[in-house]
Order: sequence, then C-alpha cells, then structure tokens
Amino acid sequence: MSVRLHLVSNLADGVLAAGGEPLRLSWKVAAGPGASRQDAYEIHASRSPSFDDLLATTGVVEADRQILVTPPGEPLASREVRFYRARIRTAEGWSDWSEPLAVEAGLLRPSDWVGSAITLPHDAGAREQSPVILLRKTFSLPAEPVRARLHVTSYGVHRVRLNGKPVSENLLDPGWTSYRRRLLAITHDVTSLLRKGENVLAAMLGDGWYRGRLGGNPKGRCWYGDQLALLAQLEVELADGQTMTVPTDDTWRVGTGEVRRADLYDGCHVDLRHRQPGWDAPGFDDSTWQRPLLVHLDTATIEPQIASPVRPIQTFPLDLAQTKRPRPGLLRVDAGQNVAGFVRLTVEGTAGQTVTVRHAEVLEPDGSLHLRSLRTAKATDTYVLADDHPTVLEPVFTFHGFRYAEVETDATVHAVEVVAISSALTPRSEFSCSDPTVTRLHENVRWSQRDNFVAVPTDCPQRDERLGWTGDAQAFASTACTLFDSRAFWSSWLRDLALDQEPDGGVASVVPNYGRTGVKAYGRAGWADAATIVPWAVYESYADADLLRRQLPSMVAWVGYLEARRRRDDLLGGEEQYGDWLDPDAPSDRPSLAKVDADFLANAFFAHSAQLVARTAHVLGETDLAARHAALGDEVAAATWQKWADHIPTTQTGCAVAICFDIAPADQRQAVGDALARLVREGDGRIATGFLGTPLVLPALTATGHVDEAYLMLLRRETPSWLYQVEQGATTVWERWDAIRPDGTIHDGRMARADGRTGTMLSFNHYAYGAVMDWIYRTVAGIAPAAPGYAEARLEPRPVVGISWARAAVETPYGRLAVRWSVGGDASFEAEYDIPYGVRATFVPPATTGSSVLVDGEPSAAEPTTLSHGHHQVQVTRARLARPRGTSARH
Ligand code: BGC
Repeated sequence: MSVRLHLVSNLADGVLAAGGEPLRLSWKVAAGPGASRQDAYEIHASRSPSFDDLLATTGVVEADRQILVTPPGEPLASREVRFYRARIRTAEGWSDWSEPLAVEAGLLRPSDWVGSAITLPHDAGAREQSPVILLRKTFSLPAEPVRARLHVTSYGVHRVRLNGKPVSENLLDPGWTSYRRRLLAITHDVTSLLRKGENVLAAMLGDGWYRGRLGGNPKGRCWYGDQLALLAQLEVELADGQTMTVPTDDTWRVGTGEVRRADLYDGCHVDLRHRQPGWDAPGFDDSTWQRPLLVHLDTATIEPQIASPVRPIQTFPLDLAQTKRPRPGLLRVDAGQNVAGFVRLTVEGTAGQTVTVRHAEVLEPDGSLHLRSLRTAKATDTYVLADDHPTVLEPVFTFHGFRYAEVETDATVHAVEVVAISSALTPRSEFSCSDPTVTRLHENVRWSQRDNFVAVPTDCPQRDERLGWTGDAQAFASTACTLFDSRAFWSSWLRDLALDQEPDGGVASVVPNYGRTGVKAYGRAGWADAATIVPWAVYESYADADLLRRQLPSMVAWVGYLEARRRRDDLLGGEEQYGDWLDPDAPSDRPSLAKVDADFLANAFFAHSAQLVARTAHVLGETDLAARHAALGDEVAAATWQKWADHIPTTQTGCAVAICFDIAPADQRQAVGDALARLVREGDGRIATGFLGTPLVLPALTATGHVDEAYLMLLRRETPSWLYQVEQGATTVWERWDAIRPDGTIHDGRMARADGRTGTMLSFNHYAYGAVMDWIYRTVAGIAPAAPGYAEARLEPRPVVGISWARAAVETPYGRLAVRWSVGGDASFEAEYDIPYGVRATFVPPATTGSSVLVDGEPSAAEPTTLSHGHHQVQVTRARLARPRGTSARH
C-alpha cells in the first residue's frame, strides 16, 4: 500500500533547538486516492536514527489525529538529541515508518550557562549612539571537531562569526522580547566552521531595541538598560572523545571597529578608516584590545528562541544604467518594491570620501525623496572610505522602510542592490485571479506582512515608531496566519503580551511595552483585545491548543480587567479610546474621531473577548470558566444592543461589529446586515471603516447574504478603496486610505496633538487594512478552515462577474489544499481541487435553481458535498455569480 508519512515538528524554520514550547509532532500523508482514513498511529522515540534502542513509544493509539501530537517519553533534557518516527494504520493495514526526524534541545536550565555576560568597559553607549562593540576569543582545539553547537544571547543585538565566517544569516538576534522577563537564546550548528588548532569566536554587539531609540523622542534610548552584554557558549565534541566549552568570560578581548554608530531608526555610520582587518579570525593582534567588563545577566530569563530569526529574504539587484542621476554625485535608486531592509553598494573611491544613503517610501511630485513621514527617524546610512579599492558597503543593526533611496557620493558606484529583511517565515499560501489589481493587492499585503514582521509585529517599518501595536496585530492576525506560517511568530509575541500585562489584567497598546513607560496606554478597545483575538485566530488556523492553554490566564485576566471597569449600567464607558482609528470620514488630523461611537466599540469588543475566553475554555475542557464567560459575553452584548441599537445601523463599522461579534440578537441580525448592505450601496462601495471595522465589513456582508455588496467594496477603484491604492502604484498597504490623493499629491499626514502642537502620521506600509485578504481566501478562492487547523475545510467559492478565474492554495498542517476555478461566458463554473489526506472538505457549489452539478464526472445534488483527499473536478452549470453592479453588469 502506498501511504507515506512526512514527519515534522512544531519548530519554526531557522530554529535549531527545541525547548521554547512543548514539542509536538505532525505528519503529512501522501496516499493514493482510494486510501482510507487513518484509524490509528504509533510514534517511537529513540536516541539513534536506527531505533535500535527504543526510548519510548506511544503504543498503538486508536485515533485519526495527525497534527500537533504529543511525542512519547519525557520532554528532552538540555542538549539532548532524540529521533522520532511515526506510522499510521488505515483499513489496508500499517504504513511504513516515516523517515526519522531528529529533534535537539537547547540549553534549558539557567545553570547550563557556565560563563559570564561580557561587554566593553567604559562604553559611551549609555549616553549616546556609540561604536558597535567587537568581542573575540582565541582558543585551540586539540583534535578535530565532530560536533559543535554555539548557544548565544545578548542584551542588544548581536552577530557572531567563527574564524572569519558568519555562523548564520541572522541579522537582529535575539529579536525583541520583554527582555527583563524573557531573553531568547539561539543555537547554531557550527561544526563545519571549526578546525583542529587555533580558532577565533567573534561577535558584534549593537544597541538594537535594548538600548537604541524607541518612540518619537530622539533622546528616548536605553529603555531596557544602558549596558549591552553578550552571553555565548560554544560546546565542541572532539574526535578523541573529549568535549570542550568556550564560554564568554573575562579571558575575551573587546574593542571597537569601523561601525561607529548603529541605530534601528537613525541608521548606521561606518568609518572604514577604523577597520580592524582580520579581527574575527586567528592571527589578529588583539593586544591593544581591552579585557571585558562582566555584566550581570539573569540566566533564569533565558529561553530557546521559538520563531524564525530576522534574515535577508530577497535581494533586488538594480540596473545602474537605468538608475536616475538627478545631478553628478547623486544616484536615485528605485527597488520597485517597498521593503524593510537596506541598500548594499559596491563603490570605488579614495580614502576619506563619503557615501550617504537616504531612504524613503515614496517620491515627492518633483522626484525628490519624501522624508516628512519618517518624522524624527534619520533613516540614513553613511560611510567613509579608507582606500581606493572596490568596497562593498552595507549597514549593520539597522533597517529602513523604503522603496527609493538616494546615494550621494563622489566615489564611483559599481553596483547597487536592495536587500529586503524579515522574520523569515515560510510562505503558506498562494493566490491569483484574472483581475491583476486584486492579484497585486494580495502581493502588497504579503509585502506589508514581511516588512512589518521584523522580530515583532509592527505598525510600520519606516518612521520613528515600528512598535508592536496590538490593534494592528489583532486586525491582521487571521490574514497573517494564512499568508505565512505565523504560528510560532505569534506564539512568541503572545508570550510577551502576557508578560507585559499589568497585575490588573490591563494589556498594553504596544507589545513589547518597552520599559513599561514607553507607550503608557493600557486597555484600549480593539487594541488590548489582541490578548483574546490573536490566540483564537492562531488556533483557528493551526489548531494549536497548547498556545490557547498557555494564553488562557492572560485572556481571562484581560476580560477581568474589563469586568472590573464596568459602570453602574454594567457597561464600559467614558475612557479614552483609539476607536475605529483612521475612519476615512474622521477629521484627518484626529483619527480617533470616527463615526462609530467609541463606547459602543469598547463594549462590543468586551462581549467578543468574553466569548473568545468562553470558546477557549470550552476547547480546554474548563466548563465552568466557559459557562461564566459565555454568560458574561451574552449579558454585555445584550446591554450593548439595548443602548446602541439605533446607532449601530448608521455606520458600516457599527453594523459589521454587531454582526461579527453577535451583538445583534439573532432575530435582528439580518436587518443589521441589510442596513449595512444599504450603506454600502448608497456609498457605491466606498469604504467608510477604520482599523476596527475594516477587517469585519466584508465578512459581515457575506454572513448576511450580501455578497454583491461585498464585491462592490472589494472591486471599487476610487478612493477610499483597496484597489485605489494599487492603481496608484502602491506596493504595500497604506496607513491612510488616501495617503496619495487622486491628483498625485501626498497627504500631509497632519495630526493634532494634545499639547497643541501638530505631528505627522503617514505611512505607506501599515498592514491593518490588508486584513481583507482573509476574506479573499475564504470567499473569492473559497478556502476556509471549518474546524481548527483545516481539519475540516469549507470550500465555498463565490464567483463574481468581473473575475473569470482564481487560483489559491494553503499549506495546511495536513498538506497543500489547492483550488483553481474558472467561469465561462455562459456562467459555467469549473473547479479543480487538491485535498490533503486528513482534511474533511465540504464543497458548497455556487449553484442556482437551474444548475446541474457534476463532481468528478458524476451528477451530484446542488448541495454541500464532501470531498475526500486527492484530486477532484467539479462543474456547475448556470452558476450563481455575484453581481456587484446589479444585473446589467457584463461578465
Ligand atoms: C500607529 C498605529 C497604531 C496607532 C494607535 C499609530 O501611531 O502607527 O498603527 O495602532 O498609533 O493609535
């Protein structure tokens, strides 16, 4: 029988060592179309890939469970390597065993760290941006190395090199966490970089989020501490059976080199005249370098990293012949894509010559860089050349949000490339359709996710902000889960959300909430609710119940916070809210003054959060907790409806929230949906929602049978709309619907501030409005999880006049779920599906009363049909097509 298993663990791509989360195993099964379902499974654990010495087994487990299965045996100990294999039984008998899967643990106990954290003595970095710290250690291996692991973490960001070579492509390790409570250690396999004899372990240490700028005040540095520190531990097994450990300690040497300043917002200054050639390799004379200062670093806060590290993800080489030169010595670079990243140059000049690189997302109408929206972020990299050799220049420990850059220099520029960076998540889905603008919108949202998933989910990658705004995160969470394998990324960030939660349950507006003093706002509706909304979105997409279990106390505490703030009428009210932020009808300098009542939103989100706690508790078998929160949610919803029933139908956001959060009683739901559809028709599909309403408006229309109106909004091309910005040339999703006006002018971004002064708020790379992608997968492509992790999938494409074909795929935990559909001129609908083994898929044909339906060539009722794993073809004549512009519209 041909049933093959591919066994995987829940370790994210780019993460070597387990231990940051409970280990779970999943298998994707390749099976012939006739194969029956899985009746049982068995997993073996062993210390060797041959499984000669069985360490543990699950025994035969009679279950069809295939994902996130608890492996047999005790959890791995520090450094332990264990092998797993799995097999399944179907009606035809047992499959072969899968290939062995090796899993290795990192350092799990505080006492595993034997060295001391070290830094540069008398480092001026506490007071001002200062040179990046260089650290090195020479050591000798008495025999050939057979296996070597480097475990490393730091206060500040680090890059490690061994014998002159980088140990990884990671750029901003250890990422950004709630450092005082949780510091991530990264484990690298460095076996191939070591050799018998002399070796050098070297590292660079920069400010990053720990000590660099965060927030709008240029003086706002050192939020977590004023001393950087590196804690590293190299563990080597030698051919002669010995082991050797090289930890950071006072025998290292420290100094500085060419990188004179490196700040995430402001950029990097490199003076090559300070270069220390060979500093990271054997043979370098470090006698003038200093002995390090030992720094206290609490090893109890260290955990293995969970999520994929930040790395280069794509390079855009530029054709210099096509690059504009507005004047001699000035080069204007266009990457063609708005990215988070940096410019890499090859230049040739003379000693002392300078090179300056400035970055911007868009150009002013006169062709110059639009810099105003960067606010105080300098976003500038500068270099001073040391000699007349061709030199490759690129910044370290910084990144910029940009599509355009200006390179100013008298040196000769030989090559330019733009390097995009991101937390290197694995893409999880694909989408395209006959309307290139919608396809490009999908691409833009993917880029906004990449550009803003840089260690934490940020609002934007360019200005003096780049913070983990919770409201943006909750709006985008479902879409993020579909576009990239975001499970571990969210899991890591949610840990910090919980750690940064106040004792009263209050959730910060930004996570990590740097220093607890950065952004002081707690408990804002639709922002703090990330505490409940994000875990649930992750669960729906990946079925990770461990994550729910871990977050449950945080979720309960958040709802408890809200409960405690209810007033005499049992409702929340009168607190400052961001509201339906950036409603296009709000005064553009006061984005919180949306049409929809902010107190209504506060209570609606309260009811929703309570229901999400109830659902979570239900999944986890906490019946009492579930019942209590369901009752609370119902009660708040009823009181909210009672107070705002008349207000709700007056705004798109009011209706969408009332429908999606079950604020409208069941018998009023359709009426609210109809009111929403009316508003949308009256506005000719004009978007009238901000950050909180936008993710919900199309789902609310669809849920109440108004697919035509949903498409009217999606396919609208005038501002405000999703496609307007695409047609304006956007390559990412804008923060404001009208960031560039139809006449080509750039929005002034002006903001009224409490102190009477004006500020600016304008970004061309905010993913919140990209939340529409979740609807596009569910409705245009027609792929939706009907049970967590797509164990059940609902395949319900809603073809529309104006889109003649669509293709999409989602890499579910079970394997690839793919669709391609097309509609012919006579409204004949055809689709092909690939359904992975283990997924129960229900196809809902887009049928009218006169339709006939064929499934794999066999006539079928025009009703929901179950499709088993494998390839399927369906045909529907006289298909039901959405008609956003009424019946007169042509296909
Ligand atoms: C951020 C937003 C955020 C908002 C909260 C802005 O400055 O960029 O995306 O959610 O503040 O009001």
